[in-house]
Amino acid sequence: MLKTNRISTYPINQIILNRWSPRAMTGESIDDAMLMSFFESARWAPSSMNNQLTRFVYAKKDTAHWQKFFDLLVEFNQGWCKDVAALVMIISRKKSYHKDMPQPSHSLEAGACMQNLMLEATSRGYVVHGMTGLDFATAHKLLELSEDWSVDVMLAVGVFDKAKSEEMKEEISDRKPLSELVFEGVLPEDFE
Ligand SMILES: Cc1cc2nc3c(=O)[nH]c(=O)nc-3n(C[C@H](O)[C@H](O)[C@H](O)COP(=O)(O)O)c2cc1C
Repeated sequence: MLKTNRISTYPINQIILNRWSPRAMTGESIDDAMLMSFFESARWAPSSMNNQLTRFVYAKKDTAHWQKFFDLLVEFNQGWCKDVAALVMIISRKKSYHKDMPQPSHSLEAGACMQNLMLEATSRGYVVHGMTGLDFATAHKLLELSEDWSVDVMLAVGVFDKAKSEEMKEEISDRKPLSELVFEGVLPEDFE
């Protein structure tokens, strides 16, 4: 995988800098054991009361469920997702299993799962690209979910294609400086 040119202001684990979201993928498939390792990493994400409200529904390319998942994507995402190895829908239960109370942190917890999965995949030489460019209502119907469940994000998982990425002129994104993100005790007066 491409080594990143990202620079952190303070020292951090390189895997965090190396994770990025290319759209250029080779179309190579992914084996089940590898995919399960990704889900295994997501399984170990923290959640409120250890409620574990996040679920993962996947479709590998050239399998029975692929087309239904692919059709959920907006046209732009369909354009580059034809060469991904798998699409993964992350869903979360809006109510806790503990007393069936609303759990406002359900999507936050789904996000923690997503990041675990992304880092695991990165460490194994794969790439994962998150997408909210999809028809959420149709996804909800497709999975026959009750109103207790939310569709949070679709992930494209695949093998990075360096040559195609260069052709597409893909650039690894940067981040805002820490000074715009972190505040001790109070927010600045010009905060918006
Ligand atoms: C929740 C979420 C939704 C996203 N939706 C899309 C999308 O629909 N299409 C797309 O091409 N990229 C999408 N992205 C990718 C972001 O644009 C990308 O993560 C961001 O620019 C930061 O770049 P990096 O992931 O390479 O660090 C999404 C990312 C996240 C986390």
